[in-house]
Amino acid sequence: MTMSWQVLIELYQVPERGGLWVTVENTQVLVSRNGEEINGFAMECPHLGYSLEFGKIWDGELTCPFHSYRFSLRDGHCLNAICPDLIRYPVKIVDQQVLINLTPQGETQA
Ligand code: FES
Repeated sequence: MTMSWQVLIELYQVPERGGLWVTVENTQVLVSRNGEEINGFAMECPHLGYSLEFGKIWDGELTCPFHSYRFSLRDGHCLNAICPDLIRYPVKIVDQQVLINLTPQGETQA
């Protein structure tokens, strides 16, 4: 898979201590913000792979709608269960825009 960065969203559009879903190349990404820290997470819950799209986003956390596992939007860590972290995509900020690479972190990048 090639490593390519593309614009996901303008930085100012991402709510502080919150997040929103953005579709890029037919992939839904949860982009979250904590100060200058930006993260991009995959839509699949790391528990059983169900969609997190209708999960509750509140106060820097995402709660899965299926089994109520809670995840920190700061680092994707699961807060109330033994479960892998949310899948993250590499993101960076360039000229007040959030750029994303759709290769999940941890996968081999060419
Ligand atoms: S599928 Fe998300 S907590 Fe079980």
